[in-house]
Amino acid sequence: MISQFTSSVVSNQKLGEKIFKLTLSSPYISKRAKPGNFVHIKVGSTYSPLLRRAFSVHNVDKQKGSFEVLLKVVGRGTGILSEKSPGDILDLLGPIGKGFSLPQEGKTVMLVAGGMGIAPLWFLLNNLIGKTDKEKLLFFSGAKTEKELLYCENLKDLGANLMVTTDDGSFGTKGLITDLFLKEIKGRKNDSSKLMVYSCGPPEMLKRMSEISKGYDLSCQISLEGNMACGVGACWGCPVKLENGWYKRVCVDGPVFDAREVVLE
Ligand code: FES
Repeated sequence: MISQFTSSVVSNQKLGEKIFKLTLSSPYISKRAKPGNFVHIKVGSTYSPLLRRAFSVHNVDKQKGSFEVLLKVVGRGTGILSEKSPGDILDLLGPIGKGFSLPQEGKTVMLVAGGMGIAPLWFLLNNLIGKTDKEKLLFFSGAKTEKELLYCENLKDLGANLMVTTDDGSFGTKGLITDLFLKEIKGRKNDSSKLMVYSCGPPEMLKRMSEISKGYDLSCQISLEGNMACGVGACWGCPVKLENGWYKRVCVDGPVFDAREVVLE
């Protein structure tokens, strides 16, 4: 159930160029959030900026009653949030949305992250560790440059089989993460029914993931980012077109959709 409440900042950690991890106190979210859910945060105490900002739940700590969001400074709202200090109070709505469905036993699981798309997949990965055979867990992580790559060492420590690309070749294979993913899929095209794919990243990357999923009939769940206004399903300001010609709302019908179901422009 979506609730509105206040939450205090536990910590604010700079992870990279313009990238911050906010840890917020909330036993409510830490107990209820599932991978793929998001929270809608009011940036300040005035009417400017007016709209809340949506952030995927990045991880939870049920013992401490806290959760994390990952943010990149791209404008005024995220700039204000990046300057929050321990003890600051934020107004939140959450947890919101339909999250990822967990894979059936025996599936090979592939997580494909582009840039800040690692945010919900990190939470998902932490849920899968211990439940999925590590040999069958592959993590594809792509970013523009090495400076924007997150958690490479942590991913290896967790035991995920890690594949990395950067657009400029400063780390890992030079190129797009979707190209590396496609190469892997082509090598496994006879057992695509045994795969379960999860992805999040920038719009052009998810469009490509959707095309690949349709082409190889892959079971692939993608987490979309919409421009959200209300965030609770009331305004229809976040539509996504479906293959059947209908529309759904990213905020409450998603943000996770079957990549074969949506038409991404
Ligand atoms: Fe209002 Fe989705 S943001 S319906």
